[in-house]
Amino acid sequence: MDFSSYTDGFFEVNAKNGFLPKVAPLQKLPATYTALQEVIDEMPIVKDDGTPGLLATEGKIETAVDQLPNYLAEVSKETDPVLLQALYRTYAFITSAYTLAPAHFTFLKTGKYGKAYNRLPAQVAQPFVAVSEKMEVFPWLDYHYAYSLGNYNKIDPQGGFNWENLGMCAKFSGMPDERGFIMLHVDINQHSPKLIGGIEKTLQADNTDGIAEGLAQVHEAAKAANERRKLMWEASRWKHYNDFRVFIMGIKGNDDIFGEGLVYEGVSEEHRQYRGQTGAQDNIIPTLDIFSGIISFYPENELTQYLLDLRQYRPVCIQRFLEDLRQYMIKNPLIENLAAAGHSAGMISLLGILDEVYAFRNGHWQFVQKYIMANTVYPKATGGTPIISWIPNQLKAVLATMKHGFANMPADAPGFDREAWLDAYNRKEQLLDKQLRVLHGEAYNPDEVFEMNAQFGLEDNK
Ligand code: HEM
Repeated sequence: MDFSSYTDGFFEVNAKNGFLPKVAPLQKLPATYTALQEVIDEMPIVKDDGTPGLLATEGKIETAVDQLPNYLAEVSKETDPVLLQALYRTYAFITSAYTLAPAHFTFLKTGKYGKAYNRLPAQVAQPFVAVSEKMEVFPWLDYHYAYSLGNYNKIDPQGGFNWENLGMCAKFSGMPDERGFIMLHVDINQHSPKLIGGIEKTLQADNTDGIAEGLAQVHEAAKAANERRKLMWEASRWKHYNDFRVFIMGIKGNDDIFGEGLVYEGVSEEHRQYRGQTGAQDNIIPTLDIFSGIISFYPENELTQYLLDLRQYRPVCIQRFLEDLRQYMIKNPLIENLAAAGHSAGMISLLGILDEVYAFRNGHWQFVQKYIMANTVYPKATGGTPIISWIPNQLKAVLATMKHGFANMPADAPGFDREAWLDAYNRKEQLLDKQLRVLHGEAYNPDEVFEMNAQFGLEDNK
């Protein structure tokens, strides 16, 4: 793999940037686009100055969108990837705010998501589609360029990427839980340079020590990312997830909200459907899945199809990175190669990496129980997936890979306690079995599933 070739001028996947943008995203649009920037600044339910914005009052975002000029001619001339990204983010936020505002206000009145608008006015649709086509991305709020990775600004410019130091360039609710929720995703990615660096080292090593070093680095990066992920419980309170959730819903899979889809006026009369932004568009877990061999244990089902479908919802340079890594790892499977070489240290790191992926997914599964299932009766995720039945599938794939790794561990691996490992593994397997039994019952209680984690000593919010 050529680790210097995955860039689009905004993202650049390598040991320096990982999956974070190579330069800080533009916080504001240049003067040509003042009217657009004003909508973004005025839009949040709670604005920066604490007063209510357009989304606080029914009907206001519609008036603001009606009054927007059509910047199609201007955006068509733009070529700077950093400016194009900021324009994309801006149009994506305005599009979701406008189309989903009626669903939001119905939710406030009835506790159920109402219908979204099915037509996007030309003054938004045309420039948005033009910018998306230049960037080779779908014209709908995504994770990379719009909601998450391309939406941070550092509060203290000299400070780091911890979520407390990150503000959002564009927002829907403007409340602290929205910021904590999505900026923690950026925070986690501060460890992605180390992850990519470790993978590069492992793949390019020509001796046992080099491989051990590379794998240890990947393990450290996975551990650090997981430590940060756990902070979700404090960065964003689960009871407040609904304050902003409706605005990140996608069109595809959310038929109750969007019906047959969205018409981009002035572009075409067809009803289009795109998936919503979701952490499933993040790259850390997919990269670890590919690198460690978990993908060969992915079950053949709709969730796997969905995860693969989501590959298209990533920047092209990241899609290429994931695909090249996949091809490479198919030809050079890690577990089998380490086993053949009797590489105990490498295998111990690999089991450690798998343990982190397990902890990530099991903790994440607890997020889903609390932030979504305990909060709403609507059984679809923002990405449009039937949440309860899907998420545990990937946990099964991790457990299967762990077992495979264990079976290939050299018998005399120094410093490896087989019994302790098996004991910990069995607890993970039993916890999942027990949860799945409850989930398949008639009256499913998210709290019951959530509490089981404590019984097995595997709770995420200790
Ligand atoms: C409160 C926090 C979170 C909630 C409620 C949540 C919810 C969900 C839901 C419902 C899905 C199902 C698929 C979909 O419709 O997209 C999903 C998938 C996924 N999420 Fe999250 N998520 C959270 C935080 C995160 C974070 C912080 C990350 C990592 C940066 C992440 C990474 C993923 C991944 C990789 C998947 C794909 C499924 C898998 O590979 O196991 N999520 N998430």
